[in-house]
Amino acid sequence: MMNRLTISDLLEKKRQGKKISMLTAYDYYTARLADEAKIDVVLVGDSLGMVVQGRKDTLPVTVDEMIYHTKAVNRGAGRALIVTDLPFMSYQAGVTEAMKNAGRIMKESGAGAVKLEGGQRVLPQVKALVDAGIPVMGHLGLTPQSVNQFGGFKVQARDRAQAVELLEDALALQEAGAFCLVLETVPLELAEIVTERLDIPTIGIGAGPYCDGQVLVFHDLLGFDDSFKPKFVRQYANLNQIITQAIREYISDIENGNFPADKESFHMKEEVLKELRKELDSVGDN
Ligand code: KIV
Repeated sequence: MMNRLTISDLLEKKRQGKKISMLTAYDYYTARLADEAKIDVVLVGDSLGMVVQGRKDTLPVTVDEMIYHTKAVNRGAGRALIVTDLPFMSYQAGVTEAMKNAGRIMKESGAGAVKLEGGQRVLPQVKALVDAGIPVMGHLGLTPQSVNQFGGFKVQARDRAQAVELLEDALALQEAGAFCLVLETVPLELAEIVTERLDIPTIGIGAGPYCDGQVLVFHDLLGFDDSFKPKFVRQYANLNQIITQAIREYISDIENGNFPADKESFHMKEEVLKELRKELDSVGDN
């Protein structure tokens, strides 16, 4: 059996100055492909609300949906550490809610850790979860569950006061027991300072090259959406074109009678066919 990466492996990577790779996945096959490529961490992000469900933000995603997707990911990824997002309003209201929902995710889905968004205001939840043996990944900067408070998906912590607040939040999350921290859409200089000041690894998305690791959303990395190309995304493939072209060819082959061909069809044995023809010929003869 393959050994699954643990939170200790991530801490060790930071200590050794090795970069951590993280990618989102939401189903069996994509998780399997990421795992076979030897990704360190598969994040079952609540971004699934946008890229799988087609919603405008992550707010409607439920704990049941996170569990459903994590179960599928867990069947596909046997090596990577699986981290599952606690969705909007599954932990913000307090420690009891956070414990109940994170507990369900850990018991029912196969996740090895949970991720939640925010700094000072979620410290009691982080402490309680860690005390209960649930590894917690923090998430600061552009935290998508607060998109309505931010007034859109904008770069965060660009001014001095906000930058200081983010560093304080990062230190507090580490103190509360978080094992890792996502920094989303913040200036690279700030991400570098936070990364230097923390013992736990930072994973950046739109946070520059100095973080201890990087994360992207699966669909962004592979170019599913031609019209969505934020500055921080590098598209490693254009699946949009490849998939659309393949489906167009499929439709045209059906319409032209080119699909299925003989090699894609099944045959009866010659003698069975002969018998069948005879039998069919006599049907309705009397
Ligand atoms: O939900 C998600 O995919 C995330 C990443 C973008 C970090 O939180």
